[in-house]
Amino acid sequence: MVNYKDLGLVNTREMFKRAVAGGYAIPAFNFNTMEQMQAIVMAAVETKSPVIMQVSKGARNYANASILRYMAEGAVAYAKELGCEHPEIVLHLDHGDSFELCKDCIDMGFSSVMIDGSHLPYEENVALAKKVVDYAHQFDVTVEAELGVLAGVEDEVSAAESHYTKPEEVIDFSTRTGCDSLAISIGTSHGAHKFTPEQCTLVNGVLVPPPLAFDILHEIEKKLPGFPIVLHGSSSVPMDEVNTINKFGGHLEAAIGIPEEQLREASKSAVCKINIDSDSRLAMTAAIRKHFDEYPSHFDPRQYLKPARENMKKMYIHKIVEVLGSNDKL
Ligand code: 13P
Repeated sequence: MVNYKDLGLVNTREMFKRAVAGGYAIPAFNFNTMEQMQAIVMAAVETKSPVIMQVSKGARNYANASILRYMAEGAVAYAKELGCEHPEIVLHLDHGDSFELCKDCIDMGFSSVMIDGSHLPYEENVALAKKVVDYAHQFDVTVEAELGVLAGVEDEVSAAESHYTKPEEVIDFSTRTGCDSLAISIGTSHGAHKFTPEQCTLVNGVLVPPPLAFDILHEIEKKLPGFPIVLHGSSSVPMDEVNTINKFGGHLEAAIGIPEEQLREASKSAVCKINIDSDSRLAMTAAIRKHFDEYPSHFDPRQYLKPARENMKKMYIHKIVEVLGSNDKL
């Protein structure tokens, strides 16, 4: 059993309080590899931003649970080495699907976990979330739970259809579970294909997706004043990265994300955590494809992973400074 405080990590409680009050959102970037982790830390240090490094069950299976735990500890040491005296780094489990998985992560040094019972009948979602909260709070680990279902595919989590969060459920749910933050469904979805072209409107040659359901968000805010709200599925799927991938041999059709303007607006509300994974995957893949096209003889991974890391770092900094507004908030 290792407590996250011994690893130099923090939970989400204080940073969410400040983010809600300050009208900005904390970036929650998914990672599976060392290069992603390095890029996240470099971006957070350079912009003086708190940051949530999150891993899904699939990432733990891919990278190995022990390695990820030491990487998170390494992230804190690396941030200090880069000149950040007091980094605020959260190690968060994304989409925990069972009490056992959440407990395992808490016992291995995670400072925050998500229990995703959103696909379950309401009462079962409440009971599961409460069980995780009761365990987590003994160790001062914060818990994110979810109401409403997001469409899309993310590792082992997938749903064909989305169901918006019902504002009439949020008070009962948050009170009975004791969760520290609530992920809601207002029109975002996982992956790089969030909308079909048919769902979008063509404006100046660009496909613009339907707006997020801000009316639902505002209703939820009214019911739970100041309560931390989380948005999953918030990649913007930048067209320049998609075009680079397609130009250099990739085949990504109809990739459409959430316009950054919408996320900027959401960040000013009680939304204080915004999850981004696909944009990092796109930035990495675009840089690697471009590199291989330019240097067909390269086969040392450092040669192509270095530009990939740079491209991800650039994207993370852009999100922090231009979209979420969490820069200079340490
Ligand atoms: P994206 O697929 O939009 O990056 O969403 C990631 C996410 O919500 C992780 O939980």
